[in-house]
Amino acid sequence: QDLGIVAVGFSGGQGKPGVDAAPTALIESGLLTQLRDELGYRLHGHDAVHSYADVVPPPERDQPHRGMKNPRAVSAVTRRIADQVYEHAREGRLVLTLGGDHSIAIGTIAGSARATRERLGRDIAVIWVDAHADINTPETSGSGNVHGMPVSFLTGLAREDKEEFFGWLTDEHRVSVKKLVYIGLRDVDVGEKRILRENGIKAFSMFDIDKHGIGRVVEMALAHIGNDTPIHLSFDVDALDPMWAPSTGTPVRGGLTLREGDFICESVHQTGSLVAVDLVEVNPRLAADTDLGAHETVRAGCSISDAEAGLEPRAPSCPEPTL
Ligand code: ARG
Ligand code: MN
Ligand code: MN
Ligand code: MN
Repeated sequence: QDLGIVAVGFSGGQGKPGVDAAPTALIESGLLTQLRDELGYRLHGHDAVHSYADVVPPPERDQPHRGMKNPRAVSAVTRRIADQVYEHAREGRLVLTLGGDHSIAIGTIAGSARATRERLGRDIAVIWVDAHADINTPETSGSGNVHGMPVSFLTGLAREDKEEFFGWLTDEHRVSVKKLVYIGLRDVDVGEKRILRENGIKAFSMFDIDKHGIGRVVEMALAHIGNDTPIHLSFDVDALDPMWAPSTGTPVRGGLTLREGDFICESVHQTGSLVAVDLVEVNPRLAADTDLGAHETVRAGCSISDAEAGLEPRAPSCPEPTL
């Protein structure tokens, strides 16, 4: 199969430098060669890590708008990403985007939603694996960081007319709140809880995972989306417990094990309906006090991407255990 790669070296959706270095760190640790050599993907667009320097305005010309920080930069970068993902997805490639912070999902999902409508005449569903809901509107956000807002722009809960502030998003880019499902939540802001409730958005928190187990939760998540629906999987590495992925900007304890994270990705891949995946918020510069922290997080990121792309830990020749 063909795999479109979009490597995004961008960190403007939040304040901590270093997430922009993640694609290079992931690629250097062998992520792409693994996908090519062990999974047999034909790679496209893997030769560049994009910084989008040509569309990012200098910081002094990017004053906050409705409380959003770096709004013009994030808008311009995500608009470009939307085109890149669209180009890959339109060709029928599975698209893997390596972030970058989670604001970039405004671009990835806009691109895959549009391409899937055009190519298959279908609306995509989004599975958002994260400690956070990232569904603040500019008005409910306490931080002003756009990486906490992508879902509100993508669902149309937040809107803007001006092109330079996400006004380029149109209906062809948007997803329905009914086709959105969260897994792994454990740090949701008060305003976000209200948004989830008022819109009846399906969310499986860590509580649900403890209660039902990851197998059942993934089953319920997929059932909610419905059979045969094209899926965009957006995986924030902070969904994993900091024990597995300490190098991330907003770690929250009490998260998924690496195995649970892999399981989600493997299950979603197994549906055969995956059109695009994101891996975001790996920040190799954080938790580098223990040098191991960054290394472990990058390794976790590779594991997650492999699982998204269909690599199961069991060797194909290994027989099923008989009982
Ligand atoms: N809810 C907080 C905010 O809006 C944290 C968001 C964290 N998002 C992320 N993609 N790591 O600022
Ligand atoms: Mn998060
Ligand atoms: Mn919080
Ligand atoms: Mn996130």
